[in-house]
Amino acid sequence: MPEEELCVTGMADLDNLLGGGIPVGSTVLVVGSSGSGKTTLCMQYLVNGAQQGERGVFFTITEPLFKLTKNMEGFSFYDKKLIESGMVNLIDLRIISERLGLDTEKYSVEDAAALLDVLKDIADELNVKRLAIDSITALCYRLQSKEMIRDFIFKLGSSLAAMNCTTFLTSEVPPRKFQYSQHGIEEFISDGIIFLGDIERKGDLIRTFQLIKMRGMAHSRTKSAMIISSNNGIELAPLLKS
Ligand SMILES: Nc1ncnc2c1ncn2[C@@H]1O[C@H](COP(=O)(O)OP(=O)(O)OP(=O)(O)O)[C@@H](O)[C@H]1O
Ligand SMILES: [Mg+2]
Repeated sequence: MPEEELCVTGMADLDNLLGGGIPVGSTVLVVGSSGSGKTTLCMQYLVNGAQQGERGVFFTITEPLFKLTKNMEGFSFYDKKLIESGMVNLIDLRIISERLGLDTEKYSVEDAAALLDVLKDIADELNVKRLAIDSITALCYRLQSKEMIRDFIFKLGSSLAAMNCTTFLTSEVPPRKFQYSQHGIEEFISDGIIFLGDIERKGDLIRTFQLIKMRGMAHSRTKSAMIISSNNGIELAPLLKS
């Protein structure tokens, strides 16, 4: 069997759990409650890719660009030059929606198709190999049925896979609940699920990281402790059981 091509996230601990990286073209759902590290994980993934020569695009819906960049500037991994050189492209999805004249509250089937086309065109024109949407939850609120959500993510994932682009979609869930999405659909269409959780211990909240699924490969499902630091961004460590 030919060996599958892998997208190396550049976060060594995560790549180790995966046995090298994520199968190229996968759609990975990054699930977590507020403050769990979803945006940071996606940005580090894109920046690491750009440093390996893979262009990326980050579509934000939850944070305006000026706040996003201000927050990310606190991390050593965040390299402004990669933004300026176009290796990492930051795009406010709400501005795209406005320019397309889409309804701000609810998308019709035609609106969703127009948005999908624009996302695909941007990915194609920029020749990106890594893409993130933060968050797919906010986007899905504008789609009016489970069928539309399924259709949107499926078509987006298939088109990007055809471009050999690996996609991260963030999914917002309530804290300390075993739930992967708000609509109960996103996880079934995604090829992979990364779950960012937390455990309360002696009054402290310990961040946790767990790979729930990654289609097409054997991988660790062990829950790790996750550390976010300005120097190293996201790192994993064994979760001490006691
Ligand atoms: N420079 C930094 N150094 C260390 N930790 C940081 C730094 N900046 C942010 N953090 C930590 O990361 C957390 C936020 O992470 P992030 O924004 O990636 O979470 P999120 O899951 O995207 O949250 P939300 O759902 O609210 O968008 C902060 O609450 C803080 O604990
Ligand atoms: Mg966020």
